[in-house]
Amino acid sequence: MKKVKYLVHSLKNFQEMGTVIRSGAAMCRKMSQFIRKTDDLIIVELGAGDGAITSYILEAMSPDARLFVFEINPELCDVIAKIDDHRVILINDGAQNMLSHLTKYHITEVDTIISAIPFLVLPDDLTQEILLLSKKLLKRGGMFIQMHYVQSIKKMYKTIFGNVETYFVPLNIPPGYVFRCEKDQINI
Ligand SMILES: C[S@@+](CC[C@H](N)C(=O)[O-])C[C@H]1O[C@@H](n2cnc3c(N)ncnc32)[C@H](O)[C@@H]1O
Repeated sequence: MKKVKYLVHSLKNFQEMGTVIRSGAAMCRKMSQFIRKTDDLIIVELGAGDGAITSYILEAMSPDARLFVFEINPELCDVIAKIDDHRVILINDGAQNMLSHLTKYHITEVDTIISAIPFLVLPDDLTQEILLLSKKLLKRGGMFIQMHYVQSIKKMYKTIFGNVETYFVPLNIPPGYVFRCEKDQINI
Protein backbone atom coordinates (compact mmCIF):
# COMPACT_ATOMS: atom_id res chain seq x y z
CA MET A 1 0.00 0.00 0.00
CA LYS A 2 1.34 3.46 -0.89
CA LYS A 3 2.57 5.64 2.02
CA VAL A 4 -0.13 8.31 1.66
CA LYS A 5 -2.91 5.73 1.36
CA TYR A 6 -1.54 3.95 4.45
CA LEU A 7 -1.50 7.25 6.35
CA VAL A 8 -5.11 8.06 5.41
CA HIS A 9 -6.18 4.51 6.22
CA SER A 10 -4.41 4.65 9.61
CA LEU A 11 -5.99 7.98 10.52
CA LYS A 12 -9.45 6.63 9.67
CA ASN A 13 -8.87 3.44 11.66
CA PHE A 14 -6.64 4.76 14.45
CA GLN A 15 -8.46 2.77 17.14
CA GLU A 16 -7.31 -0.46 15.46
CA MET A 17 -4.03 0.70 13.92
CA GLY A 18 -2.53 2.59 16.88
CA THR A 19 -0.03 4.35 14.59
CA VAL A 20 0.07 6.14 11.25
CA ILE A 21 3.33 4.72 9.90
CA ARG A 22 4.14 1.12 9.03
CA SER A 23 7.21 -0.49 10.64
CA GLY A 24 10.53 0.37 9.00
CA ALA A 25 13.26 -2.06 7.97
CA ALA A 26 15.10 -1.95 11.32
CA MET A 27 11.94 -2.83 13.25
CA CYS A 28 10.98 -5.58 10.77
CA ARG A 29 14.47 -7.09 11.03
CA LYS A 30 14.38 -7.06 14.83
CA MET A 31 10.91 -8.59 14.98
CA SER A 32 11.93 -11.46 12.71
CA GLN A 33 15.46 -12.11 13.94
CA PHE A 34 14.40 -14.44 16.76
CA ILE A 35 12.83 -17.02 14.45
CA ARG A 36 14.59 -20.36 14.87
CA LYS A 37 14.89 -21.44 11.28
CA THR A 38 15.06 -25.17 11.83
CA ASP A 39 12.71 -25.44 14.81
CA ASP A 40 9.92 -22.94 14.24
CA LEU A 41 7.51 -24.69 11.93
CA ILE A 42 4.27 -23.01 12.96
CA ILE A 43 4.55 -19.24 13.18
CA VAL A 44 1.69 -16.82 13.79
CA GLU A 45 1.70 -13.13 12.94
CA LEU A 46 -0.87 -10.90 14.63
CA GLY A 47 -1.81 -7.46 13.29
CA ALA A 48 0.07 -7.76 10.02
CA GLY A 49 -1.18 -4.47 8.55
CA ASP A 50 -0.16 -4.36 4.89
CA GLY A 51 2.56 -6.98 5.45
CA ALA A 52 5.58 -4.84 6.33
CA ILE A 53 6.94 -7.44 8.78
CA THR A 54 5.42 -10.43 6.97
CA SER A 55 8.01 -10.50 4.20
CA TYR A 56 10.88 -10.43 6.73
CA ILE A 57 9.29 -13.29 8.67
CA LEU A 58 9.00 -15.29 5.45
CA GLU A 59 12.65 -14.69 4.69
CA ALA A 60 13.69 -15.90 8.16
CA MET A 61 11.45 -19.00 8.09
CA SER A 62 12.23 -22.51 6.94
CA PRO A 63 10.80 -23.55 3.54
CA ASP A 64 8.76 -26.19 5.44
CA ALA A 65 7.26 -23.79 7.98
CA ARG A 66 3.81 -22.22 7.80
CA LEU A 67 2.87 -18.65 8.66
CA PHE A 68 -0.67 -17.95 9.89
CA VAL A 69 -1.32 -14.25 9.40
CA PHE A 70 -4.16 -12.61 11.34
CA GLU A 71 -5.30 -9.14 10.28
CA ILE A 72 -8.66 -7.69 11.22
CA ASN A 73 -8.89 -5.12 8.43
CA PRO A 74 -10.17 -6.42 5.06
CA GLU A 75 -8.55 -3.62 3.03
CA LEU A 76 -5.12 -4.49 4.47
CA CYS A 77 -5.79 -8.20 3.93
CA ASP A 78 -6.27 -7.47 0.22
CA VAL A 79 -2.69 -6.15 0.15
CA ILE A 80 -1.29 -9.16 2.04
CA ALA A 81 -3.20 -11.53 -0.23
CA LYS A 82 -0.89 -10.42 -3.05
CA ILE A 83 2.10 -12.06 -1.31
CA ASP A 84 2.90 -15.03 -3.50
CA ASP A 85 4.16 -17.60 -1.00
CA HIS A 86 2.52 -20.97 -0.36
CA ARG A 87 3.61 -20.85 3.32
CA VAL A 88 1.21 -17.97 4.10
CA ILE A 89 -2.27 -18.69 5.43
CA LEU A 90 -4.06 -15.35 5.64
CA ILE A 91 -6.97 -15.02 8.04
CA ASN A 92 -9.10 -11.88 7.99
CA ASP A 93 -10.19 -12.05 11.61
CA GLY A 94 -9.19 -10.84 15.06
CA ALA A 95 -6.42 -12.54 17.01
CA GLN A 96 -8.97 -13.28 19.74
CA ASN A 97 -10.43 -15.89 17.34
CA MET A 98 -7.10 -17.61 16.65
CA LEU A 99 -8.01 -20.86 18.34
CA SER A 100 -10.96 -21.78 16.13
CA HIS A 101 -9.02 -20.95 12.93
CA LEU A 102 -5.92 -22.89 13.94
CA THR A 103 -8.05 -25.85 15.00
CA LYS A 104 -9.40 -26.05 11.44
CA TYR A 105 -5.80 -26.65 10.34
CA HIS A 106 -5.33 -29.21 13.13
CA ILE A 107 -2.85 -26.89 14.85
CA THR A 108 -2.89 -27.29 18.63
CA GLU A 109 0.32 -25.43 19.49
CA VAL A 110 2.56 -22.89 17.83
CA ASP A 111 6.29 -22.18 17.96
CA THR A 112 6.43 -18.41 17.71
CA ILE A 113 3.92 -15.55 17.73
CA ILE A 114 4.97 -12.19 16.31
CA SER A 115 2.58 -9.35 17.09
CA ALA A 116 2.24 -5.69 16.19
CA ILE A 117 -1.28 -5.39 17.59
CA PRO A 118 -1.49 -1.96 19.27
CA PHE A 119 -2.53 -3.23 22.70
CA LEU A 120 -2.20 0.27 24.15
CA VAL A 121 -5.29 1.43 22.24
CA LEU A 122 -7.30 -1.78 22.57
CA PRO A 123 -9.78 -2.37 25.43
CA ASP A 124 -8.01 -4.01 28.39
CA ASP A 125 -10.19 -7.10 28.39
CA LEU A 126 -9.50 -7.76 24.69
CA THR A 127 -5.76 -7.28 25.26
CA GLN A 128 -5.80 -9.78 28.14
CA GLU A 129 -7.86 -12.23 26.09
CA ILE A 130 -5.40 -12.17 23.16
CA LEU A 131 -2.30 -12.39 25.35
CA LEU A 132 -3.61 -15.24 27.50
CA LEU A 133 -4.72 -17.10 24.39
CA SER A 134 -1.29 -16.55 22.83
CA LYS A 135 0.38 -17.97 25.91
CA LYS A 136 -1.95 -20.95 25.91
CA LEU A 137 -1.25 -21.68 22.23
CA LEU A 138 2.53 -21.44 22.48
CA LYS A 139 4.42 -24.66 22.99
CA ARG A 140 6.79 -24.76 25.98
CA GLY A 141 9.84 -22.74 25.06
CA GLY A 142 7.79 -20.95 22.38
CA MET A 143 8.28 -17.22 21.93
CA PHE A 144 5.92 -14.25 21.96
CA ILE A 145 7.42 -11.22 20.24
CA GLN A 146 5.73 -7.83 20.41
CA MET A 147 6.55 -4.30 19.28
CA HIS A 148 5.61 -1.05 21.01
CA TYR A 149 6.64 2.59 20.96
CA VAL A 150 6.76 2.88 24.75
CA GLN A 151 8.63 0.80 27.29
CA SER A 152 6.18 1.27 30.17
CA ILE A 153 3.90 -1.51 28.94
CA LYS A 154 6.68 -4.06 29.46
CA LYS A 155 5.38 -5.05 32.91
CA MET A 156 2.15 -6.37 31.38
CA TYR A 157 4.17 -8.96 29.43
CA LYS A 158 6.23 -9.84 32.50
CA THR A 159 3.02 -10.47 34.45
CA ILE A 160 1.58 -12.72 31.77
CA PHE A 161 4.64 -14.62 30.56
CA GLY A 162 6.79 -14.40 33.68
CA ASN A 163 9.75 -13.06 31.70
CA VAL A 164 10.47 -10.41 29.11
CA GLU A 165 13.56 -9.15 27.31
CA THR A 166 13.56 -5.67 25.80
CA TYR A 167 15.33 -4.54 22.64
CA PHE A 168 15.43 -0.87 21.67
CA VAL A 169 15.13 -0.13 17.94
CA PRO A 170 16.44 3.44 17.51
CA LEU A 171 16.39 3.40 13.72
CA ASN A 172 12.65 2.93 13.41
CA ILE A 173 10.47 6.02 12.91
CA PRO A 174 9.45 6.57 15.63
CA PRO A 175 12.04 4.60 17.64
CA GLY A 176 10.43 1.59 19.26
CA TYR A 177 10.88 -1.44 21.44
CA VAL A 178 10.63 -5.15 20.83
CA PHE A 179 9.64 -7.34 23.75
CA ARG A 180 10.53 -11.00 23.63
CA CYS A 181 8.86 -13.40 26.05
CA GLU A 182 9.40 -17.12 26.31
CA LYS A 183 6.73 -19.51 27.48
CA ASP A 184 8.11 -20.87 30.67
CA GLN A 185 9.18 -24.50 30.73
CA ILE A 186 7.31 -25.16 33.99
CA ASN A 187 4.75 -22.41 34.45
CA ILE A 188 1.69 -23.14 32.24
C1 LIG B 1 0.45 -0.91 14.24
S1 LIG B 1 -0.37 -1.75 12.90
C2 LIG B 1 1.00 -2.82 12.46
C3 LIG B 1 1.05 -3.13 11.00
C4 LIG B 1 2.32 -3.85 10.55
N1 LIG B 1 2.49 -5.12 11.22
C5 LIG B 1 3.53 -3.01 10.81
O1 LIG B 1 4.29 -3.33 11.74
O2 LIG B 1 3.72 -2.03 10.09
C6 LIG B 1 -1.43 -2.81 13.84
C7 LIG B 1 -2.33 -3.75 13.03
O3 LIG B 1 -3.07 -4.59 13.93
C8 LIG B 1 -4.37 -4.80 13.38
N2 LIG B 1 -5.24 -5.24 14.47
C9 LIG B 1 -5.78 -4.49 15.46
N3 LIG B 1 -6.50 -5.26 16.28
C10 LIG B 1 -6.39 -6.54 15.84
C11 LIG B 1 -6.88 -7.80 16.28
N4 LIG B 1 -7.67 -7.91 17.36
N5 LIG B 1 -6.55 -8.91 15.57
C12 LIG B 1 -5.76 -8.82 14.47
N6 LIG B 1 -5.28 -7.66 13.99
C13 LIG B 1 -5.58 -6.53 14.66
C14 LIG B 1 -4.72 -3.44 12.78
O4 LIG B 1 -5.75 -3.54 11.83
C15 LIG B 1 -3.38 -3.02 12.18
O5 LIG B 1 -3.26 -3.41 10.85
